[in-house]
Amino acid sequence: MAALHEATAKMSLDAKTAPVYVCEVQGDDAKGTGAEGAPFKTVLRAVEHATGGNAEILVRKTTEEGYQPAAKTALKKAQKLVEANLKKAEKAQKAAAADAAAEAAKLDEAKKVVLEQDKSLPAAKKIKIRDGTQHRGQRVKVSGWVHRHRSQGKDLMFIVLRDGSGYLQCVLTGKLCQTYDAITLMRESTVTVYGVLEALPEGKTAPGGHELRVDYWEVIGKAPGGEEAFDSKFNVNTSPDIMLDQRHLVIRGETASNVLKMRALVLKAFREYFDSRKVLEVTPPLMVQTQVEGGSTLFDFQYYGETAYLTQSSQLYLETCLASLGDVYCMAESFRAEKSHTRRHLSEFTHCEAELAFIDFDDLLNFLEDMVVSVMNRVANDPEGGQILKELNPDFKAPQKPFRRMNYSDAIKWLNDNGVKKDVLDAEGNKIGEADYEFGEDIPEAPERRMTDTIGEPILLCRFPAEIKSFYMKRCPEDIRLTESVDVLMPNVGEIVGGSMRITDFAELAKGYEREGIDPKPYYWYTDQRKYGTCEHGGFGLGVERFLAWLLNRYTVRDVCLYPRFMGRCEP
Ligand code: 4AD
Repeated sequence: MAALHEATAKMSLDAKTAPVYVCEVQGDDAKGTGAEGAPFKTVLRAVEHATGGNAEILVRKTTEEGYQPAAKTALKKAQKLVEANLKKAEKAQKAAAADAAAEAAKLDEAKKVVLEQDKSLPAAKKIKIRDGTQHRGQRVKVSGWVHRHRSQGKDLMFIVLRDGSGYLQCVLTGKLCQTYDAITLMRESTVTVYGVLEALPEGKTAPGGHELRVDYWEVIGKAPGGEEAFDSKFNVNTSPDIMLDQRHLVIRGETASNVLKMRALVLKAFREYFDSRKVLEVTPPLMVQTQVEGGSTLFDFQYYGETAYLTQSSQLYLETCLASLGDVYCMAESFRAEKSHTRRHLSEFTHCEAELAFIDFDDLLNFLEDMVVSVMNRVANDPEGGQILKELNPDFKAPQKPFRRMNYSDAIKWLNDNGVKKDVLDAEGNKIGEADYEFGEDIPEAPERRMTDTIGEPILLCRFPAEIKSFYMKRCPEDIRLTESVDVLMPNVGEIVGGSMRITDFAELAKGYEREGIDPKPYYWYTDQRKYGTCEHGGFGLGVERFLAWLLNRYTVRDVCLYPRFMGRCEP
């Protein structure tokens, strides 16, 4: 019915005699129809509406006045403007049509340009970009992704090619940049380029100091343009959540791929370090039925009808290897059902853990600082690692041995001496005041960071009270309230390592289970280590992501994972 009314209203307006109404007070150019009940606001709009007909235009300047025929001068002015606008629109339409036709003709023309390899040239050797330097002056063939490209006129095109091993500047000239593929090339397409690698002349720069003078090329897989184009997927203003949804594309970027390359170098450096100290790599199971670091962060799952967990730490298994293999380490994933969204907590992280037999607490501390400094030096001295470090963390200051050693009790004193207080909360969790930290309390992330950042150098924080540490930690002979435990703290990140000497005595371990309310039965294999020839031993776990966040000065550990897992995210 409403539609019928609207149609009738329009018909009556379109009729020769139907006037068009303009109310300068209540009219609306966008929503009005020109009818008396829905007038326009301006004469210009009324003229536009009436163009082609000879409808009379009636205007009122106030709601008190009646409608009067529009003034002749106003009508003339409006008509002129409408005509000019129409002409402009027509011209723009023609120009767009001409552009489209020219583009279509250009593409048709480009389709006729067919490239062929020059058979008189030497056969091209297939290489990876990283091996370019030793192939300078030779004809090579390189495949990769179009990282960037730029045309300069009709006869010159530059492609920066990426193959994961490096970046290569390719120069295409003449016919090579006039093909359909060249004209429609989009970023992230895959191509194979053929040509001779030439050193760059003095004063010019490109990755590797050379460029490929292309003599033939082909597209392997085209990437889309328009809305689907790689460049439309994200930019510097994209939210972290969307960046994580697009992580599979984000890792193609220079920063993310550099971080992942450094991650590989760091893992390799740890392995080389352990190898140099004759510590053997083992690969413990990740599906377990015992806890290591408290029940509250266990992920459970169904294992053939039984409850099992994803491991929090491989420490207990490593301890069982000592009597079989001597000193051991592993680089394995650990899992924590952390219910907090912090910069340094993940649900899944790479855990570098080691266990060393017949050592004392000092040996453990010495091992730790030697390992951190050696691994850091290894990656910093690696040509690629050094370059990445310079790019991502130009202000990096390599720490020196020995690290500052500080007892837990001194840390509590430091916090109190420096006015770092804890919040006092009421039963509903509202802050009602502040108080000093007291001996026996866990030092939370924020004050720990504050202390580490203020001191500004690595700290071996030692001898935590037994009550705030795990069941397996050995007590200090000089004060049995304390444990021979250590956290390595780094500026900007805080704790990167947790370690300790382990209880060697059968009865003492039984007390540890009891204190933590753990049923010792499923731990028989762990307890047996104290029964069948016990030994003084200790070990540690280092969070690889935290080590990387420190080394590369990343804001969060999420930035150094391939596909980070944390509360609320388990994809892609
Ligand atoms: O201090 P943690 O909990 O110690 C252990 O798991 C011991 N069983 C290790 C051992 O002695 N073999 O964890 C050790 C390190 C932490 O210092 C931290 O670097 C990392 O593991 N880590 C985490 N990293 C990211 N996200 C989490 N949720 C982490 N939990 C621990």
